[in-house]
Amino acid sequence: MEISTVSTDAAGPVLVVPMFADRTPGPGAEEVLAAIGWVDGHLEAVGFDGSVGSVAVVPTGGAFRTETVIFVGLGDEADHETLRQAAAAARRAVPKVESVATTLHRVEIDGAVRAVVEGFLLAGYVFDEYRSDPPERSHPDLELVGEVEGWEAEAETARIVAEAVMVARDLVNTPARDKGPADLAERLADLAGGHGVSAEIWDEDRLAAERMGGLLGVGAGSHRPPRLLRLSYTPEDAAASVAFVGKGIVFDSGGLSLKPATSMETMKTDMAGAAAVAAAVVAVARLRLPVAVVAYAALAENMPGGGAQRPGDVITCRNGKTIEVLNTDAEGRLVLADALALAAEAEPDLIVDVATLTGACMVALGDRIGGLFASDDEVAARVRAAAEAAGERLWHLPLPADYRSNIDSEIADMKNTGERWGGAINAALLLAEFTDGRPWAHLDIAGPARASKEQHYVSKGGTGFGVRTLVEVARTMAE
Ligand code: BES
Ligand code: MN
Ligand code: ZN
Repeated sequence: MEISTVSTDAAGPVLVVPMFADRTPGPGAEEVLAAIGWVDGHLEAVGFDGSVGSVAVVPTGGAFRTETVIFVGLGDEADHETLRQAAAAARRAVPKVESVATTLHRVEIDGAVRAVVEGFLLAGYVFDEYRSDPPERSHPDLELVGEVEGWEAEAETARIVAEAVMVARDLVNTPARDKGPADLAERLADLAGGHGVSAEIWDEDRLAAERMGGLLGVGAGSHRPPRLLRLSYTPEDAAASVAFVGKGIVFDSGGLSLKPATSMETMKTDMAGAAAVAAAVVAVARLRLPVAVVAYAALAENMPGGGAQRPGDVITCRNGKTIEVLNTDAEGRLVLADALALAAEAEPDLIVDVATLTGACMVALGDRIGGLFASDDEVAARVRAAAEAAGERLWHLPLPADYRSNIDSEIADMKNTGERWGGAINAALLLAEFTDGRPWAHLDIAGPARASKEQHYVSKGGTGFGVRTLVEVARTMAE
């Protein structure tokens, strides 16, 4: 799949042009309307109004130099997100062609090329690895009609970021059988190694020596022991340091506090945070951003085997704090406790963890918006801005100090479940105990890590949510 620019009159079999609300022509559309006199009436008849994501595929019958023109809607005003969505709509409208030309990138906003390429690439994602006879797919080239200054760098950034998102999607979509903690650690280390990122893997003996009681406790019920993966990108010109911490439960059965069968169907997704942090550090390295990034993936399988931890057990985490495990299904916070404590030891300027942590967060925000918790408002503002720029939706939720008593334990420093209300907050308050008071943000992506239906550039299944925000956070830390 190639991305190139062509002069304004050259173009392949298909040309994609933007329209704003009420069919106000965007860049390049005027020319099409002039050439095909009947087209405006046609667009009106089929109800194409230029709203975001709307598409009309029009055969030109020789009246224009391309066989087909695709009109895509941008709504009242274009921004990066509407450009991504419009490019995605165009990509999906012609699944079989070899090449697509467009003028979308000429919409006059900074970063238009990047947004268009990103939306186009992400919308082409499919996961076919487990089909015996996958349908043939084309990977159309993208021709940007009319050169825009700096397009090459923007297209390259978009490609790197989109590839990272798609790697994360692949990992999430992979069945748990094929991604045990050790396998997944290797796979992520290999992925990163190819891009100048160094990797270190701790096995169960090392985890014991390093006092990682949370990760070991959660992993104890599985035949496949836990792993801690550390990926480091340390450029010489680093202006700041960031730690990314990901929840990597390769399968969450709930453990002895077993989940109902239907709740387990999607629990291979429970390593989406780990996939996101690993993919993000690779993208940051490929982009050569001048910021040191260390990603920690806490990898374990939460199973009810004979060695499993029991409700009522008490574990001691990396930083010496103890947790009474009342519900073994609240396992994410246990593995993150160790990984956060470890990350904090290196004293990074910012820690961001990403985790499919609570069903409660989905109840609060639905399945397309992630929860954002932060140690202070400055961190919250930074992460919100990054998410907004990246096109991922996060909503800031509070960490009320008086709710800490919800996780008071009768015998240990804290317990791993609170009362029913405010479940996402109770989980986040537990995590805060392991950040050593450092600047920290927590992204609860239980909802958006997985999509139950296809929507614009998001495919059904694993979404790669978090990758784009993390890369943007790293970028702002480098500034
Ligand atoms: N992995 C789940 C959270 C989850 C639920 C993610 C649904 C995506 C979809 C997590 O480990 C979990 O089981 N959380 C429990 C916590 C409870 C036992 C306190 C939950 O949310 O029900
Ligand atoms: Mn669980
Ligand atoms: Zn879980």
